[in-house]
Amino acid sequence: MAGQSINVCLIGQKFMGRAHSNAYLKAGKFFDLPAELVMDTIVARNRAELDVFAKRWGWKNASIDWREAIKNPLINLVDVTTPNNKHREIVIAALEAGKHVACEKPLAATLEDARIMRDAAKKAKKSKTFVWYSYRRVPAVALAHRLVKEGRIGKIYHVRAYYLQDWAGPNVPLVWRFSKEQAGSGSHGDLGAHIIDMARFITGEEITEVIGAAQDTFIKERTLVTEESKGGISGGATAGSGKKGKVSVDDHTTFLARMSGGAIATFEATRFATGYHNKNGLEIHGEKGALRFNFEDMPYLDFFDRSVDSKLAGWTRIPASRAPEHPYASAWWPTAHHQGYEHTFINMAADICRVLGGEQPEVPIPDFEDAYKTQEVLEAATISATERRGVKISELRRG
Ligand SMILES: NC(=O)c1ccc[n+]([C@@H]2O[C@H](COP(=O)([O-])OP(=O)(O)OC[C@H]3O[C@@H](n4cnc5c(N)ncnc54)[C@H](O)[C@@H]3O)[C@@H](O)[C@H]2O)c1
Repeated sequence: MAGQSINVCLIGQKFMGRAHSNAYLKAGKFFDLPAELVMDTIVARNRAELDVFAKRWGWKNASIDWREAIKNPLINLVDVTTPNNKHREIVIAALEAGKHVACEKPLAATLEDARIMRDAAKKAKKSKTFVWYSYRRVPAVALAHRLVKEGRIGKIYHVRAYYLQDWAGPNVPLVWRFSKEQAGSGSHGDLGAHIIDMARFITGEEITEVIGAAQDTFIKERTLVTEESKGGISGGATAGSGKKGKVSVDDHTTFLARMSGGAIATFEATRFATGYHNKNGLEIHGEKGALRFNFEDMPYLDFFDRSVDSKLAGWTRIPASRAPEHPYASAWWPTAHHQGYEHTFINMAADICRVLGGEQPEVPIPDFEDAYKTQEVLEAATISATERRGVKISELRRG
């Protein structure tokens, strides 16, 4: 790495473009890092918006040509925050140019693209890869991972995972998230991918089989978009004069799965959970204890210790913000001065920098191989829903 600096080229400048820019800007201010993250080049398609964005966030260069931008020999890390169907082409070119690559989740729009990306990463021996399953870096989620690893839950019987949003009512226009071609799937790859990753991360177990699944599209047509979203999920997107197009993805996906340690797991991902804007949660019940987390109560992890005398037994609410016991707490504020959504990205940028600088991340970061396993589960659940049958993950493996 040139003089212990990591020159970053970020592609995409809307929702995740802002989250990642903020992360690169702040990581070195709060964490002691082995290298400096340099905000070298920002790439997107709209020249006028891009220049304003670059100035606001402090990117040194701005480009509307990602191919040219990633060829620059000074760039060390290419970070991809485009819609899912654009991940593959950019990632492969970056790996071929010898760069480290960070890619937004899900790894790709399709399992086939994800497989090609994973194989390219394996071949690019000098490149490290990272996938932004950012909820791993919520302190309470990272703590849950550690408690399971320490054996405090014991054998796991049940995993109950849900990601519930409610923004996709009939008046929301046909943004890219409703297009199978661009997104690969709907709530499934957008929200379900996060809870599949969280379940794998916290339990340390793999999903071996999807037993059954349901996927539905409640709103089948939406008004065509005249202007894409301004950087929220659909916020700021404007619709045209009423001409409609077909929605080609799921509005919800709900499935039942088995895990490698014998646990039974349920996953529910929907954009139609009226009243829940971003309720992303997971509950685990084991022989020695239980854990529960819900992003709407982001600072807290709840823990039930079965060994406690029954007179005193009950859920303990842990504010996961005490340094040095709790993940990431040492870099931030005093106990109970809580972190928010943006910290998950800052914590991840810091961990990427640590890995590239030869240090350990606070908790494991998924690379392409790891994120591919989540993509397999997405695919298995879709096949299960479409063909109305159980699907073993081993069915999807070749060679
Ligand atoms: N980690 C998370 O929690 C999280 C949250 C939201 C989105 N995401 C993921 O991030 C990615 C982007 O989502 P978003 O919400 O930021 O989308 P967005 O629509 O807000 O932004 C997409 C950006 O990609 C740019 N873009 C599109 N095609 C391009 C091309 N060919 N060349 C260059 N730039 C191009 C657009 O101009 C825009 O700047 C998706 O993969 C999504 O699943 C992850």
